[in-house]
Amino acid sequence: MFVVMVASECAPVAQAGGLGEVVFGLSGELERRGHAVDVIVPKYDCMRYDQIFNLTVAYHDLVVPWYGGAIPCTVWFGSVYGRRCYFIDPHSPDGYFNRGHLYGSDDDPMRFAFFSKAAMEFMLKTNRRPEVIHCHDWHTALIPVLLYEIYQYAGMPDQRVCFTIHNFAHQGITDEAVLRAAGLEPERVLTEDRLADPSGGSVNRTKGGIVYANFVTTVSPHYAWEARYSDQGMGLNHTLSLHQAKFGGVLNGIDYDVWNPEVDRFIPQRYGASTLENKYVDKEALRDRLLLEHTYEPLIAYVGRLDRQKGVELLQHALFFARARGAQFVVMGNCWDPGVDGDFWHLKHFLNDDPSCHLELGYDDDLAHLIYAGADMVLMPSLFEPCGLPQMIAARYGTVPIVRATGGLVDSVFDRDYSTRPPEDRNGYTFDGVDPPAVESALHRAIGLWYGYPTEFRRLMLNGISQDHSWAEPAQHYLDIYEYIRHK
Ligand code: GLC
Repeated sequence: MFVVMVASECAPVAQAGGLGEVVFGLSGELERRGHAVDVIVPKYDCMRYDQIFNLTVAYHDLVVPWYGGAIPCTVWFGSVYGRRCYFIDPHSPDGYFNRGHLYGSDDDPMRFAFFSKAAMEFMLKTNRRPEVIHCHDWHTALIPVLLYEIYQYAGMPDQRVCFTIHNFAHQGITDEAVLRAAGLEPERVLTEDRLADPSGGSVNRTKGGIVYANFVTTVSPHYAWEARYSDQGMGLNHTLSLHQAKFGGVLNGIDYDVWNPEVDRFIPQRYGASTLENKYVDKEALRDRLLLEHTYEPLIAYVGRLDRQKGVELLQHALFFARARGAQFVVMGNCWDPGVDGDFWHLKHFLNDDPSCHLELGYDDDLAHLIYAGADMVLMPSLFEPCGLPQMIAARYGTVPIVRATGGLVDSVFDRDYSTRPPEDRNGYTFDGVDPPAVESALHRAIGLWYGYPTEFRRLMLNGISQDHSWAEPAQHYLDIYEYIRHK
């Protein structure tokens, strides 16, 4: 099968979060199974160009209709660890993708609407006729709308679209100018049963994606349930229930070529299930690198974006609680929210002289590998979490996840004491509440097991390592979906 993946991110060249990892990991697995995959992403000025091999011009003068006129683009081709990537480079006076960042411009809605239009135009002009176009999140949610409103009449009658929603909190709500710019008639598409946002008249792209795509997924079964039946649908519950027959959750995988302690090149000591004791060499290395004291204490880590979704207040509380219970604590992540950022810088200065904690404010990929290998536990107190990748990476590294039971965390972490699963499936600790006592109780149990019952703790580590969170199963789910829609 021929699949074109269109997204705003692809790891490791253009990545702000889990979306980029999914595009990279899923494409790789599909390729391994013999399918052809093209990935289309914007050509950002701030990409990791050192990770793109043989970057060359693939198409010189792609003229993309925009408003009454057109914007010419150059399309570049390059290989990203075997993924075939096309990079769209518009020559617009606005410098759409030359902003030094992926997201965060006032005209983000326009930039990504243009990108979606350009991706369609590129397929059309280069005679790319994939069986399935797989687009992701609001940035590319106009793709199915454009396909069924315009491009199916222009030479793409047989293409089908799978749309994956990575986060219902971001729906790409804007005014109707984007529709006119992209050549869509507001009178036709901005209706209640199509793109009109349920709370008013503006354009809701995620909703448009749900209405027009042939199949819609989100990134875990439990989050799919929450999106339909709880406030996690963020206003789209009704739209989802109208389209329930083509909606489902597929738990993401992680890329085992990248995240695997047996072959990881960023950690000083490799290990696996049968050589688990080697993990402690990495723990010492992590302490050396972060100037932490070498003591007989468990080490708890948080790796990921520092934003409200991730439960930053609970995280701060957990840090002090864990310290009081004799555990070391490491935090690493990027922060885009100025309020949250300020809090963490304050905390970092406050804890500067504490030899048992370290806050690394900024994302460092090499260090992330060492943290997963060196830590004993990973904490994710997320308020909501569509899928979450750190808990799966942690399990793979024999690092015990402690998570709030929400979204994809429910599908991947099973509480040692309270899960109804068989003992060999239980791989960590979960808690329900969003208040301090909830996270305290889980930490208390985890730290208690580490000190009091090391053999039992080791069993949890091994249960995690032996679970399969590779892309094998999720990719099969997506292939089943692709097969299903291509014959419709
Ligand atoms: C978003 C979600 C996260 C998910 C990732 C990849 O970043 O917040 O939960 O793991 O997308 O799907």
